[in-house]
Amino acid sequence: MPFDVAAEVIANRPLSSDFNVLALAAPAIAALAAPGQFVMVKPGTGLDPLLRRPFSVFEVLRDTGGAPTGISILSKRIGASTSLIYDARPGQCVACLGPLGRPFSRVDAPTEAWMVAGGVGLAPFATLAESLRARGVACTLFYGARRAAELFFLDFFRALGVDLVLSTEDGSVGELGRIVAPLDRRLSTRPASSSVMIYACGPEGMLEAAARSAAAHGRPCEVSVERIMGCGLGGCYSCVVPMRGADGRPHHVRSCLAGPVLAADQIVWD
Ligand SMILES: Cc1cc2nc3c(=O)[nH]c(=O)nc-3n(C[C@H](O)[C@H](O)[C@H](O)COP(=O)(O)OP(=O)(O)OC[C@H]3O[C@@H](n4cnc5c(N)ncnc54)[C@H](O)[C@@H]3O)c2cc1C
Ligand code: FES
Repeated sequence: MPFDVAAEVIANRPLSSDFNVLALAAPAIAALAAPGQFVMVKPGTGLDPLLRRPFSVFEVLRDTGGAPTGISILSKRIGASTSLIYDARPGQCVACLGPLGRPFSRVDAPTEAWMVAGGVGLAPFATLAESLRARGVACTLFYGARRAAELFFLDFFRALGVDLVLSTEDGSVGELGRIVAPLDRRLSTRPASSSVMIYACGPEGMLEAAARSAAAHGRPCEVSVERIMGCGLGGCYSCVVPMRGADGRPHHVRSCLAGPVLAADQIVWD
């Protein structure tokens, strides 16, 4: 059951001229949130933007005793809502509904977790990596961005013991090009006897490429899809994704309810 709260902004940390992390006081949402779930956020009180926008839960914030106190979101400024999120000030209230949607399924060791993130698609992997490392699962993060300055929280993942494979489109750090290329190479050399689960979040082209690579190497893959979401609750059908059922016939699912995490091999990518 999601909670709808007026969450006070605890802190707003700019990471660059476009990216920021907004910490929100929302203990009830934090207590329930599972890796991969999202919140619907409306930062302003006016009519523009009218609707809330979806954001992955980036961090679950806790007090010194470990009790959940809130969540943070990692936001990339692209329009009206994300500009308001970038400019939000501590003390201000933000409408926040969640947690919503279907989370990632979590594997157990000795299965390895390979997370594939493109840009702000990093957001759901902080909580997923924490949760999987706590279960003793070996984790690798394949993380691609446009440039070195847009690769965030590397030390956070290193401190958890996550192996990092990086790429940038300008070659300023890691491999030059897209992140699915090193993923594909690693999959090619991986013995079939070792178990790997692939999780991907980022632009749709990257999700499709990761899904095709996973399928070509016979590996399971879950992707977190980013559709435009008007309500986050199943009422508006703005977020549908074509899927193929067990009978092979295509049908549409609402990604706010059936997703945002979906089995990659059931999505109709074409
Ligand atoms: C489940 C889910 C989780 C998400 N998590 C995050 C997150 O953690 N961090 C983050 O920065 N963003 C995330 N997004 C994307 C985020 O919701 C959009 O960036 C946001 O809605 C843009 O709002 P805006 O008012 O700033 O831009 P708008 O003014 O609404 O849009 C600006 C432009 O971006 C396009 N656009 C808007 N939303 C999307 C979208 N979902 N996909 C592709 N194009 C879009 C619009 O068509 C328009 O051209 C997530 C989306 C989904 C569905
Ligand atoms: S966002 Fe409204 S039905 Fe999914």
